[in-house]
Amino acid sequence: MTLKRPNIGRRAFLIGGTAAIAAGTTALVRLRKPQGNVQLPARPLDPSAGIRLTAARAQVPLLGPGTVPVNVWAYNGQVPGPELRIRQGKKLRVLLDNRLSEDTTIHWHGVRVPNPMDGVPKMTQPPVAPRTTYDYEFVVPDAGTFLYHPHAHSSEQIGRGLYGALIVEEPDPPAVDRELVWLLDDWRIDNGQIAGGFGNGMDALMNGRVGNTVTINGRVPQPVAVRPNERIRLRLLNIANARIFGLHFGGLRPVVIAIDGQPAPPRLADGPILLGPGMRTDLILDMTGKPGDRVQITDNFYNGLEYQLTSFTYASSPVRQTPLSTPIDLRPNPIAEPNLDGAEHHEMVFGGGMMSGMGGGMMGGGGMGWTVNGLVRTDDPSDALFTIPRGRTAVFDLRNETAWWHPIHLHGHSFRVISRNGTSTARKDRQDTILIPPQETAEIAFVADNPGDWMVHCHILEHQEAGMMATFRVS
Ligand code: C2O
Ligand code: CU
Repeated sequence: MTLKRPNIGRRAFLIGGTAAIAAGTTALVRLRKPQGNVQLPARPLDPSAGIRLTAARAQVPLLGPGTVPVNVWAYNGQVPGPELRIRQGKKLRVLLDNRLSEDTTIHWHGVRVPNPMDGVPKMTQPPVAPRTTYDYEFVVPDAGTFLYHPHAHSSEQIGRGLYGALIVEEPDPPAVDRELVWLLDDWRIDNGQIAGGFGNGMDALMNGRVGNTVTINGRVPQPVAVRPNERIRLRLLNIANARIFGLHFGGLRPVVIAIDGQPAPPRLADGPILLGPGMRTDLILDMTGKPGDRVQITDNFYNGLEYQLTSFTYASSPVRQTPLSTPIDLRPNPIAEPNLDGAEHHEMVFGGGMMSGMGGGMMGGGGMGWTVNGLVRTDDPSDALFTIPRGRTAVFDLRNETAWWHPIHLHGHSFRVISRNGTSTARKDRQDTILIPPQETAEIAFVADNPGDWMVHCHILEHQEAGMMATFRVS
């Protein structure tokens, strides 16, 4: 993929070396110097035992130790919500308890769930009203790195902190010294609290709600201590409303082992790790530095706005004398391979939004929103664009005719990326979310073997809510 780095306009700029950016007229966020070590995530919960997730208002110290807590919406009082960890093939059982003052649901992003468990209100389930509960129960078929989040008023509900990681463990994971799970988020902070104005027209028709404060696991990042020759499995998940990350790991040589939870043949990263909203990447990192070394992890996705996300600092005692060289391959998940002979082809044209940058006009008949095949959908997305016979291979020709990047997410299935801009891809990676640069195209293929009505939408949540969503039926 060619990396045309987008301009984010004058709405955002960096302040020295931290992950804080000022948006428009909102005040600069002053971040304290990092103290102590990185926030340790709370103990994972095993949802095969049956657990409760309570969605409610809470306060968390997003901006770091010694700062005023930020008012959020959270699962079980934490941002991120509890890490859920379950063995592949086990049954997840989660009771959602809605203590918000509006409807909500949980969507299990990337998991090939049975349709009634997919969490799309009015389409796969009734909305979960305030002071009511809902049971989610399904077997997790694939090992990998997944997300859970509401699928109701997503821009605001996810934007205020309702999300978490769902890790499905392989029966035989590669040997590592440590596993890190980094949920990347981006907040628009104004006077120490989350700014309002979710889903406003400017955000909706341009980059989406890109914020001014980046967090890892719900905290402004602090340096992470590592040991020489340590092998780390780093699970990266982007749950920001709109921010796209392009991560560099200094002198380290990250090896990609999974994309969107799905195993990929191990390969050295050949550029920045690109993560649009909803996307995940699993990396193996061998800490090849010496005691006292420091590795800066930087994000330079937006033109001219490079900043340091966090850093690794080497402690003095090595874990071992030389790096590990044991295998890191993951076993493939049990997903049917698409058969391109006799596949059904469907075109999805994404249009609308502003022409480009500030003050541009509208594109392609989008009116006040975004379109899929010429239609703006803003509310109930339940009329399917087309039906695919169950078991058939579907090829979607995704065409981004806008001036903006879009991470397009498919529900209920994992697809292979078979071409980009008309050229067959070398790797045919399996993904559930695909980042498509402006004016580019991609073809994805999958076996439509999961019956039901499924959404396909942009995971920039303001784009989704302004119409960039559609549904297809498998029956
Ligand atoms: Cu993560 Cu339809 O969403
Ligand atoms: Cu989009």
